[in-house]
Amino acid sequence: MTGEQDASLTQPLRLYRDLAEWYPLLTPAGDYAEVAACYRSLFEAHCAHPPRTLLDLGSGAGHNATHLKAGFACTLVDLEPAMLAQSRRINPECEHLQGDMRSIRLGRAFGCVLVHDAVVYMTSRTDLARAVGTAFAHTAPGGVAIFQPDFVSETFEPGTESGGSDAGGRGLRYIEWRWIPKSATEMYVSDMAYLLKDVDDDARVIHERHFMGLFPRAVWLQLIAAAGFEPRVVSQEHGSYSDTGHEVFLGLRPVEVGVS
Ligand SMILES: C[S@@+](CC[C@H](N)C(=O)[O-])C[C@H]1O[C@@H](n2cnc3c(N)ncnc32)[C@H](O)[C@@H]1O
Repeated sequence: MTGEQDASLTQPLRLYRDLAEWYPLLTPAGDYAEVAACYRSLFEAHCAHPPRTLLDLGSGAGHNATHLKAGFACTLVDLEPAMLAQSRRINPECEHLQGDMRSIRLGRAFGCVLVHDAVVYMTSRTDLARAVGTAFAHTAPGGVAIFQPDFVSETFEPGTESGGSDAGGRGLRYIEWRWIPKSATEMYVSDMAYLLKDVDDDARVIHERHFMGLFPRAVWLQLIAAAGFEPRVVSQEHGSYSDTGHEVFLGLRPVEVGVS
């Protein structure tokens, strides 16, 4: 099974729809401080000009944006209106737009483009190439795009993770179980169980399956180059964000000849 072959992998996920208001309990915004600081310094180090604008593709609840908006004017794009609503609540000063990272075209360019963990929902090389193409179309000459998959094929380890938090009298705990289906190529499954405890102390359990793309490092670099970027890869450890090993891909959009 590949994402190319299975159209059902365009998944309407409850976590980003009717359960979106629980999302901040799954990964609270504070957990993104360290990773956002890392992205900020990568942008500053690699942009040809001091960057002022940032486009976040797959911005979710806007948790990265809470830490980046002090330094950049942020435009946040997500597929799901319920996630954009979560982000608007905490980032009212940011521009929010509904759209698909594979196809959206805003007709303007940004100094920085961030494609964070939402990129894992690209379950085929075709979709991944389209998302990278969207990033390129919105990166200004001399600007930089960052792509952050949870894993590349070379670093994937099956396993489980658990976590969650409490706020406003409610609580969420989750277990994530990651594994590769026998028939899969370039894809893994993340089986998520959410235990939701409401203000009245009633609890319910919900399971849903997320299908996620898993591509070799060389494919990432090749697709980033094919879009028109100069590709780079850097290794980062984001201690408080996740215990998975992260590799960060950069796409540097060359400064156009004759343009200062
Ligand atoms: C894990 S959340 C992202 C959290 C985000 N990094 C933050 O700072 O809050 C994943 C998001 O990807 C979005 N998503 C999935 N496929 C997408 C697509 N094709 N285009 C845009 N957003 C997408 C989902 O709607 C969801 O909000």
